[in-house]
Amino acid sequence: MAQVTGLEGVVAADTDIALVDGEQGKLIYRGIPANQLAVRHTYAEAAHLLWHGGRPDANRDAAAQTERRLADKRELSEDLRAMLDALPLQMPMMAVLQSAVAAFRQKAPDTGHWPPTVEQAERITAAMPTIIAHHARRQARLEPLAPDPELGHTANYLYMLTGQRPAAVHVRALDAYFILCMEHGLNASTFAARVILSTQADLYAAVSGAIGAMKGPLHGGAPYEVIAMLEQIGTAERAESWLRELLERGGRIMGFGHRIYRTQDPRAQALREVTAALVGDDPAFALALHVEETALRLLAHYKPGRRLYTNVEFFAAAVLRALQLPPELFTPTFTAGRIVGWTAHALEQARVNRIFRPQSRYTGPLNEQDTPPS
Ligand code: ACO
Repeated sequence: MAQVTGLEGVVAADTDIALVDGEQGKLIYRGIPANQLAVRHTYAEAAHLLWHGGRPDANRDAAAQTERRLADKRELSEDLRAMLDALPLQMPMMAVLQSAVAAFRQKAPDTGHWPPTVEQAERITAAMPTIIAHHARRQARLEPLAPDPELGHTANYLYMLTGQRPAAVHVRALDAYFILCMEHGLNASTFAARVILSTQADLYAAVSGAIGAMKGPLHGGAPYEVIAMLEQIGTAERAESWLRELLERGGRIMGFGHRIYRTQDPRAQALREVTAALVGDDPAFALALHVEETALRLLAHYKPGRRLYTNVEFFAAAVLRALQLPPELFTPTFTAGRIVGWTAHALEQARVNRIFRPQSRYTGPLNEQDTPPS
């Protein structure tokens, strides 16, 4: 009997939020291709679409209200700031985020309630960049900054990290990245959020659990690993021998392969274009393009028939690096983008809720009198 692992191909929920078509390489948010949204719309418009539906072009006023509500919730409460200030400086960012989101429920006035609300989703989404920037600046021995009311969501993130108002091109690039990584069907972290929510735990518990699932190198931790890989490769001349050696000892090339996409990941293509426009002929980007081309050729040779292509994480690393974010902020930044998808799924789960309870197949020893169920 083949071993059951990974729930591959199992449909665990119906959803109106996104279509992930792995054969044709399409990602569509409520009827609209994600790569179109990424170049034509703002982060708040895309978030509004995922939470509420409706076409963004016909919905600009409503999306502007979402933007305002996010702006109102961006500043951290005194309690949350005090909690963050009490955390050890060396505490990893993903652990900080998990703790901070879990702590939301202690004080927020609408907590203890189930089902989850869009108001709660906005609160976590709005605060996430502020929390990341607060801890990052403490770690750098800098004074944390309050959000700038004149800046939007992604611009504020860059501002609160650096203390500088970002260039418009950087804001557009980060908007595009956030929109492209906002939602992706029942990936591990979104599934984790839905499972937790299905127990009628609150949204803060669901998001905090999703952050835990996000952290691993097979999921949200990959962009960090991509940068580490590119740094180890170092030069175009070394790429082929480095990658061959990795594949020959059975290693995985970070930023390649996907459980669902058996063709190009549409997000990778869109981010490749965004990064190219942002950095021009930057040598680090040229190295990434060379590594991509070499890796695709070697994967076709060493893993024939597996249909392994570049995934979103490879170019996420390139765009985040071009924005001069330090590698340790890559996974937290991905998290700040994905939060919209998690919360949209949680809201959807609550509407049709039935607790998740799959079965396992027992393969351990049995006494003579016990027979396995057929
Ligand atoms: N490099 C080399 N070989 C690979 C890679 C890779 N990146 N990905 C898959 N393979 C190979 C496996 O070794 C396996 O080969 P085999 O049949 O000879 O044993 C075959 O392809 C199938 O691999 P699975 O592990 O069954 O694929 P799965 O669907 O479980 O894994 C995953 C998907 C985790 C993304 C995988 O491709 C991987 O580890 N990639 C590298 C990490 C990465 O980039 N993660 C980010 C994913 S995107 C995201 O989470 C947002």
